[in-house]
Amino acid sequence: MRPGKAANIMDESRQGETLLLKQDAPGSRKLFLESYGCAMNFSDSEIVASILSGRGFSTTSDYRQADVILVNTCAIRENAESRVRQRLHDFKKEKRNNPGLIIGVLGCMAERLKSSLLEEEKLVDIVVGPDAYRDLPSLIEKVEGGQRAVNVLLSREETYADISPVRLDSNGVTAFISITRGCDNMCSFCVVPFTRGRERSRDPESIVREAEDLFSRGYREVTLLGQNVDSYHFSSPDGNKTGFAELLAMTAGVNSALRVRFSTSHPKDMSDEVLHAIASHENICNYVHLPVQSGSSRILEMMNRGYTREWYMSRIEAIRRIIPGCGISTDTISGFCTETEDDHRQTLSLIEWAQFDFAYMFKYSERPGTLAERKYKDDVPEEIKSERLAEIIDLQQKMSAKKTAGGVGNVHRVLVEGVSKKSDSFLYGRNPQNTVVVFPRGNFRKGDYVNVLAGSCTPATLKGSAV
Ligand code: 5AD
Ligand code: SF4
Repeated sequence: MRPGKAANIMDESRQGETLLLKQDAPGSRKLFLESYGCAMNFSDSEIVASILSGRGFSTTSDYRQADVILVNTCAIRENAESRVRQRLHDFKKEKRNNPGLIIGVLGCMAERLKSSLLEEEKLVDIVVGPDAYRDLPSLIEKVEGGQRAVNVLLSREETYADISPVRLDSNGVTAFISITRGCDNMCSFCVVPFTRGRERSRDPESIVREAEDLFSRGYREVTLLGQNVDSYHFSSPDGNKTGFAELLAMTAGVNSALRVRFSTSHPKDMSDEVLHAIASHENICNYVHLPVQSGSSRILEMMNRGYTREWYMSRIEAIRRIIPGCGISTDTISGFCTETEDDHRQTLSLIEWAQFDFAYMFKYSERPGTLAERKYKDDVPEEIKSERLAEIIDLQQKMSAKKTAGGVGNVHRVLVEGVSKKSDSFLYGRNPQNTVVVFPRGNFRKGDYVNVLAGSCTPATLKGSAV
């Protein structure tokens, strides 16, 4: 993960940014793999790289050198899809120079659009949904045999638990581990339940093994990923049940020098038990990403979020009570169907009350096939959506800056992730609350824990020196 404020684990936080997965290595065939969207997609690309590396592929960072181009896509908002579509057109042009080139689309857009990407648009040769990556080698063979290939079957079981992800574009310190796939929540605005299918949890032993393996290879932080981590539950054949609080404790038990993060929490499911598990383990970071979406109970009901404004506030109070000093971030959506000025004011007042450290703020984008698309009219004009979003961003920026400034004068335990982008003589890392901290390099290295006394800050970064 790169410098910058808290990375939203479930979201398209890398908006407009292509994650180029660089790993030039010898191999008979070259794969160019590009990921868009959330951390889950990034993590899936590492599974795809693992599946194909077993079949003689090595990855390349130059698509002009590739035999196969795979684009792992996001469908959460319309602009995410437009960007990918543009990119696919660019790749298609490359076929003029390289007629044997195979182009595949993976992930949420593949699942949403299915074979239309092949048949109507003739943009790609392969379409593969998020549960069908094991089929990639045979789909590639099929295309080599002159056919087009599609597998968009969703599964109730697939968790890729036995596949060791190939860590790509990695800083060697922080890594993602998927713990659940899919989502059963059916928030009315969201396409994820349709593109990623039913929720399933991965065997806890395989999760702990992956964390142990990462630790033994020098990694010092893992982020447990799921659309709704609080609903993680696994029953083993002998009847042992593991919930998210136990899973957190098991992962924290791998080594006290391994930091554990997680995302995303859901306000309706986040239990005090989980909060106590965080509070009682030094190495589980005091940071919760708790998307609110709206501050209006009426809109939350229409969004099918399963909680009210008051419930959400009580969850924030629980975090503050059980984990003093915990970092909290959120997601908001502006201009959902029927949203009035009063609803919008309620979102603003909630943001002000909650004092979030950080937020990912979006305009509502209607997605085909979702409950909201079928039930409600997308009736808030685009200009109003933009105005409301701008107001929310403006308020949150002030709150974030205030939060960062509150860290000046304190000592922060920083896990070093790399050399600062701005200057070679500085390192950067994060404190447990996920704020980026920059300090002079000294003799420290990536993967070290350093206590840094913050002396100054910018709106999103603390600056200081080791103590
Ligand atoms: N329009 C705008 N934002 C959306 N999100 C999910 N679906 C939509 C949509 N249709 C946002 C939510 C969610 C985050 C991952 O993306 O805020 O928490
Ligand atoms: Fe979408 Fe809601 Fe599931 Fe998140 S919890 S992925 S917003 S349906």
